[in-house]
Amino acid sequence: MAGVFDRGAPSYDRTGVDFFGPMGRELVRRAGLRPGERVLDVGCGRGAVLLPAADAVGPTGRVVGIDLAPTMVELTRADVAAAGLSQVRVEVADAEAPPLPEASFDAVLAGLVVFMLPAPLDALRAYRRLLRPGGRLGFSTFAAHDARFDEALRTLAQHLPEEHRRPPTADREPLFGTAESVAALVDAAGFQQVTVDEVPFESRFRDVDHWTAWAWSHGARALLERIPADRLPAALADAAQVLAPAGGDLVLGTTVRFACGVAAPAPSDS
Ligand SMILES: C[S@@+](CC[C@H](N)C(=O)[O-])C[C@H]1O[C@@H](n2cnc3c(N)ncnc32)[C@H](O)[C@@H]1O
Repeated sequence: MAGVFDRGAPSYDRTGVDFFGPMGRELVRRAGLRPGERVLDVGCGRGAVLLPAADAVGPTGRVVGIDLAPTMVELTRADVAAAGLSQVRVEVADAEAPPLPEASFDAVLAGLVVFMLPAPLDALRAYRRLLRPGGRLGFSTFAAHDARFDEALRTLAQHLPEEHRRPPTADREPLFGTAESVAALVDAAGFQQVTVDEVPFESRFRDVDHWTAWAWSHGARALLERIPADRLPAALADAAQVLAPAGGDLVLGTTVRFACGVAAPAPSDS
């Protein structure tokens, strides 16, 4: 996935669609960051969480953003420098095991990335070790996409070569399928006062071409890249029929789960 995000990085969260931005701001709001706090933003992308976090902790705080995609890091670093945010550092690093000192953060945030990791429980345990006792974890995952979005992806997938046709997220269901399973995961990683809330968001697209540009900019790119070039126009035409059969603008709903917890004082797995 890091390669997909690396290639999508120049347009990621820059297609003029209210999607990652509002979701990132909501995660930061829920984390209750205070001026002067030290924050790690895991899988920082183009800064949907990082930039509001920098604003919340102010110039006396510190925000470290990590991402595995070098182009995401390079472009976000440039945005941070242009905004004069001297309290922010952005590095290439793996969200599974961030190479950072233990007990060195007041909050660890991860916007829409934990469900992509091969070993999410190990990653959350690693974040707990990075937090001081009483430090806060906050992360987001998708609870539900708009039925038309899901149908558009299924339609596109019908144009894949046979060997690529598999449900990409089926193995994530037991961990991320419900609010209860997400809460159990956070609890198992050594967090207390666990909350999981679902929040609906709406995203507006000028037309299907705008939706297509947006789809190329994020994780859906993994599907688009695997459709043979000679099949892509027909695949996109079929998806357009599902998304906006009569043309015109398009509004899609997405429900996001926000999970929060407080690092338990005594690690039990280390
Ligand atoms: C859906 S984006 C979310 C980005 C940002 N947090 C936001 O809310 O817009 C997922 C991000 O996680 C990064 N990512 C995926 N796997 C990663 C890993 N193992 N370690 C670090 N970053 C990773 C991707 O490169 C991408 O930037």
